[in-house]
Amino acid sequence: MTTVLPGAQDAREAGFEQAVAADERIEPRDWMPDAYRATLVRQIAQHAHSEIIGMQPEANWITRAPSLRRKAILIAKVQDEAGHGLYLYSAAETLGTSREELLDKLHSGRQKYSSIFNYPTLTWADVGAIGWLVDGAAITNQVPLCRCSYGPYARAMVRICKEESFHQRQGYELLHALSNGTEAQHAMAQDAVNRWWWPSLMMFGPPDDQSSHSAQSMAWKIKRHSNDELRQRFVDIAVPQAESLGLTLPDPQLRWNEERGHYDFGPIDWTEFQQVLKGNGPCNEQRITQRRRAHQEGAWVREAAAAHAAKHSARNTEAAA
Ligand SMILES: [Fe+2]
Ligand SMILES: [Fe+2]
Repeated sequence: MTTVLPGAQDAREAGFEQAVAADERIEPRDWMPDAYRATLVRQIAQHAHSEIIGMQPEANWITRAPSLRRKAILIAKVQDEAGHGLYLYSAAETLGTSREELLDKLHSGRQKYSSIFNYPTLTWADVGAIGWLVDGAAITNQVPLCRCSYGPYARAMVRICKEESFHQRQGYELLHALSNGTEAQHAMAQDAVNRWWWPSLMMFGPPDDQSSHSAQSMAWKIKRHSNDELRQRFVDIAVPQAESLGLTLPDPQLRWNEERGHYDFGPIDWTEFQQVLKGNGPCNEQRITQRRRAHQEGAWVREAAAAHAAKHSARNTEAAA
């Protein structure tokens, strides 16, 4: 009887599967299936785009922050989001896709960003609600990504999560101040939470039975928990926090379920989610127009940086010669 030696491709595939099963990290130099690479590029790009588009709704309030302290905090937070974008574009570049190509896909609508950033920031309290709920939901999603099977993505996530936790706290603290302030301030905080609660729950993506990429991503250990699991975890954390803020969450069906050991919550309006994804949210047009404009206006910075780098590398070559 003859044994058929596996082909080189099969051996590499087996090596990859073994590494994933053993919870080892896949690194840029390692062989990986094309579909794994493509899934990562799609996910990391969408994540990077969300970080930089996410700067817009809040940057809108920098000039109107009510005190120097609040302004300094908000500037630091918005700047962090730009940094998150940079780590993530760099992580995507290790998979062989250039930042230019990814930005081009964002600007032409071929890649998406999180639907949450298509909602407007109507009052100062929205800065608090975004920090508490949107950054809070982001942390819930991202902490498990620190153990993602792809090394550069997992490592970028460690630092991002530390910064997101500062974002969540500043939002909570801002809302706490408003909630315990004047009647008008309390009402403003409540109104912001009412508007941001449901879109925050949608950030975890469609329900598990409708999520097309979930099963494969979990098998590859890119994702560690399903959308519904993470959404439930977020609700369970947010409900007691809302109570200590002295604010309510806009869901009459929200109640503790002793049997499940979790909070039950009402149905999510997935039609709204689909509409926003399709580009029909309140601010889709505004966000992408502003992004394209910022990119065009930054062209001279990119050119100057490239010229500076070229000059230095030429000098180094000369010096070496
Ligand atoms: Fe971020
Ligand atoms: Fe953040």
